[in-house]
Amino acid sequence: MNATEKVAVVTGANRGIGFATCRQLAKQGFQVVLTSRDQSKGKAAVDQLQAEGLQVIHHPLEVTNPVSVEQLANFMRQKFGRLEVLVNNAGVLLDYRDSDGSLFNTKIDTLRETMETNVYGPLRLSQGLVPLMQAHNSGRIVNVSSGAGQLSDMSSGYPAYRISKTALNALTRILADELKGTNILVNSVCPGWVKTDMGGANAPRTPEQGADTIVWLATLPNGGPTGGFWRNRQPIEW
Ligand SMILES: NC(=O)c1ccc[n+]([C@@H]2O[C@H](COP(=O)([O-])OP(=O)(O)OC[C@H]3O[C@@H](n4cnc5c(N)ncnc54)[C@H](OP(=O)(O)O)[C@@H]3O)[C@@H](O)[C@H]2O)c1
Repeated sequence: MNATEKVAVVTGANRGIGFATCRQLAKQGFQVVLTSRDQSKGKAAVDQLQAEGLQVIHHPLEVTNPVSVEQLANFMRQKFGRLEVLVNNAGVLLDYRDSDGSLFNTKIDTLRETMETNVYGPLRLSQGLVPLMQAHNSGRIVNVSSGAGQLSDMSSGYPAYRISKTALNALTRILADELKGTNILVNSVCPGWVKTDMGGANAPRTPEQGADTIVWLATLPNGGPTGGFWRNRQPIEW
């Protein structure tokens, strides 16, 4: 790595939107750390991007495990001593487990498990990695949220997923406020409805299209917006 190279970490990046985000960031010249909870899937994803000539390496990361997050933070500190971009992309949608998806039938365990990955994961990653951004007063945190978490458009269906994404948006606002006045910008993004394992086969967007606004937020210029919620590179309501 040369001194001017910027480093990015993407969570849940072995497939779907996270994988496409790694490809686009690497194409923009980032040294990308593609993380995955499954070692072999992550390595296969890295092999594919390296075969495209891109600077991508793998590191294991289970976002629900504090030890795993700490190991990643130690690795980043020792290998790079810096971090410009954190994309909190790893996410789960588990509501299908609870029969018809009604709030009345939602198991607290489903909500708890969903929050662990979709909210506490990004919080842990931020706590572990923001010090590396502060060391160079430069950072972009992109929390991959969803229109399903918009209070302005809240309705029934997928209650655990919706609640988790609303909470993730709150995390974005709190972090952005704590980092106000620094060159670390924090934003939430809805990638749209994307054809992935989570989005399903009928979704209109490709993962590459879903990654577009994520990468745009990850590469905002100094003085760019912070504490916002975005889709298609435009602000949207909370
Ligand atoms: N697809 C859509 O239409 C859509 C719409 C709005 C928002 N989003 C959001 O976009 C993000 C990416 O979604 P996607 O559609 O690309 O989903 P996906 O294809 O299901 O991929 C999810 C990724 O997250 C990883 N992951 C899940 N739990 C994890 C954990 N505990 N630790 C580490 N990694 C974990 C998965 O790893 P494994 O392969 O090991 O399971 C996988 O790599 C999610 O936050 C999702 O909520 C998606």
